[in-house]
Amino acid sequence: MKIFLIGFMGSGKTYWGKAWAQKSYFDFYDLDEIIELEQKKSVTDIFEESGEDHFRKLETTCLRSFSEKDNYILACGGGTACFNDNIKWMNETGTTVYLSASPKYIYDRVKGEKNKRPLIKKLNEQELFFFIEQRLKEREPFYRQAKIILPTGELDMETIPEFILNNT
Ligand code: S3P
Repeated sequence: MKIFLIGFMGSGKTYWGKAWAQKSYFDFYDLDEIIELEQKKSVTDIFEESGEDHFRKLETTCLRSFSEKDNYILACGGGTACFNDNIKWMNETGTTVYLSASPKYIYDRVKGEKNKRPLIKKLNEQELFFFIEQRLKEREPFYRQAKIILPTGELDMETIPEFILNNT
């Protein structure tokens, strides 16, 4: 089984992916982390030195290389599902899970970590909230194509989602 966790920055893809992998037999991977290891550069530096288009190419190539592997949970980047028909590819390849969250939930989680995230690094608090609202609206049509939608604010450590339980 191949599980793709998708959703906006700050929606908990890495947090929950790691937690569920620990409670099951799935391997855990983080797409941004793999790109950083392969490129020997942070995502922020890739954006700054080579631009977003270049990052999206690296991201898609790295994602597609996961057709070879099996039995994993992959935490995607916030934009992965929204470029290069990646959501279609993920749906054809495995189980897509959208961790949905409100703009306020996202704002509270990313405002202290702006430097790690090139798209929001230079925004003040008001701009950040507006950016999240707008971008989420644009991205939801992609995220909502996921096979499973879980409101991230309702998740807890005691309850393991069924799609994980059924496969452990
Ligand atoms: C991005 C989200 C980031 C990272 C890059 C672009 C986006 O991942 O891939 O900064 O377009 O939303 P996280 O969702 O893990 O922060």
